[in-house]
Amino acid sequence: MRAAIAAVLALAAALAWAEPLVDAMRGATPILQATKPPRLANEVNDDARQPRSFPQQPPVIPHRVNGYQIDKNFNKCLYCHAHTKTLFSLAVPVSLTHFVNRDGQRLGQVSTRRYFCLQCHVSQEPERPLVGNSSQRQK
Ligand code: HEC
Ligand code: HEC
Repeated sequence: MRAAIAAVLALAAALAWAEPLVDAMRGATPILQATKPPRLANEVNDDARQPRSFPQQPPVIPHRVNGYQIDKNFNKCLYCHAHTKTLFSLAVPVSLTHFVNRDGQRLGQVSTRRYFCLQCHVSQEPERPLVGNSSQRQK
């Protein structure tokens, strides 16, 4: 019995040796060493609107947004996406849900709770996913 346990342990040790634990994010860098962060890539900027995974999903942004000013003085997103601008910008107008305040009242302008667009809408990085994902779009 002891010999069998020893054999199993030896085999396990050999396997562990053969295949070091590789974490998708750290790569093969040993735990005690700091990893080198990957370089930031450019956001996807192909202008192709992406299908939504479910009807209420905030659509992802198909263009670059780095450096866009969004503060109390100016909202760069609304510069193109406001209803009054889309005739010229050809951007998708913000939907009417964005004009409703938290009391359900329809306002004449985008509600403050929808002012900071990047809380819900995100641009995409052309990265290979670190871990697999079998999640599927709602049909
Ligand atoms: C210079 C004009 C311009 C600015 C500024 C701009 N957009 Fe856009 N956006 C567009 C256009 C045009 C499209 C339509 C797709 C295309 O042609 O790129 C679009 C598409 C989108 C979409 C996809 C909509 C859908 O239904 O798929 C989202 C979301 C979006 N923009 C969000 C933003 C946010 C958030 C900002 C600010 C950080 C922003 N945009 C700033 C022009 C602009
Ligand atoms: C609190 C979350 C939230 C914020 C903040 C927000 N949105 Fe949205 N947005 C959504 C959701 C959810 C949808 C999809 C459902 C809908 O149309 O309401 C959407 C839809 C859109 C669409 C697509 C409209 C269409 O008809 O296909 C555009 C364009 C858009 N948002 C732009 C913006 C811009 C520009 C801002 C900032 C001024 C903004 N959103 C702020 C959640 C948000």
